[in-house]
Amino acid sequence: MNLLQATGLCVSYGAIEAVRDIDIAVERGELVCLIGANGAGKTSTLKALAGMIKPSGGEIRHNSETVTGISSHELVKRGISLVPEGRGIFGRLTVEENLDMGAYLRNDRQAVAADLNRVFTLFPRLAERRGQTAGTLSGGEQQMLAIGRAMMSRPALLLLDEPSMGLAPMMVRKILETIQIISEEGVTILLVEQNARAALEISSRAYVMENGAISLSGPSRELADDPRVRHAYLGG
Ligand SMILES: Nc1ncnc2c1ncn2[C@@H]1O[C@H](COP(=O)(O)OP(=O)(O)O)[C@@H](O)[C@H]1O
Ligand SMILES: [Mg+2]
Repeated sequence: MNLLQATGLCVSYGAIEAVRDIDIAVERGELVCLIGANGAGKTSTLKALAGMIKPSGGEIRHNSETVTGISSHELVKRGISLVPEGRGIFGRLTVEENLDMGAYLRNDRQAVAADLNRVFTLFPRLAERRGQTAGTLSGGEQQMLAIGRAMMSRPALLLLDEPSMGLAPMMVRKILETIQIISEEGVTILLVEQNARAALEISSRAYVMENGAISLSGPSRELADDPRVRHAYLGG
C-alpha cells in the first residue's frame, strides 16, 4: 500500500510553474529517489509534500488520507519529516539542543531518550560533540545533525533534500550508508539527489524530474542502465 501518493501535483511561484502535474507514489518501507538537474523542481516537490508550501494543484494522500494543504507542523505529528536543503539547523544551539528540537512535539520522555541514543549510535560523531554549538560543526557533521534531528520526531516517512550536497566523497558515502541503514530499519524514505549515481545505487525505485515534470520512472537498476539517464545524469 502507498504510504504517500501525490497525484497531479503542481507548484507555482507567481507566474513560474516549478512543478507541473506530477504523480509520485512511495510504498511503505521503500527507499525511492528523485533525481534531476538544478532547477528541475525537486525541492519544490519535497516542500509541497512536507506541507512547507501549498500546492497550486493536485492531491497528496498520506496513509490513504488527503493531506493536501495541511501544515508541516501537523504532518510532523503524522510522521512525515523533512530534512531541508541546506540543513536548517540552529547554529547557536548545541548538538543536543538541536536534537531536542526535533522531538518538540513529543512528550513520551523515555522513548525520546531512547531515540536520542539511537541517533548517537547512528552518528557517533554527534555523541562526541553533543555539547558543541552546531554552527562550529563541519558540513558533513551538520548534515548528520539535520538527519538526526529529523529522526527525533520518529518519522514513518523521511523526506531528504540533497543530503550529499557540498560534502567530501568520504562523507557522502557515510551519509548515504546511514540513509540505507535508516531505511533498512523500517523508515520509508524519499531521497532527492543531484548525485544520481549514488542515489540510484541505494534506492529501489527512482523518478527523474526535468523542467517541473517527471520524464522517467522505474526500478533504479533499470534507470541506471537506461541510455537517456546515463547520458544526462551519469556522465556516459
Ligand atoms: N521561492 C521561489 N520563488 C520563485 N521561484 C522559485 C522559488 N523557489 C524555486 N523557484 C523556481 O522554481 C524552479 C524549481 O526550483 P527547485 O524546486 O528549487 O528545483 P531543484 O530543487 O530541482 O533545484 C526553479 O526555476 C526556481 O528558480
Ligand atoms: Mg533543490
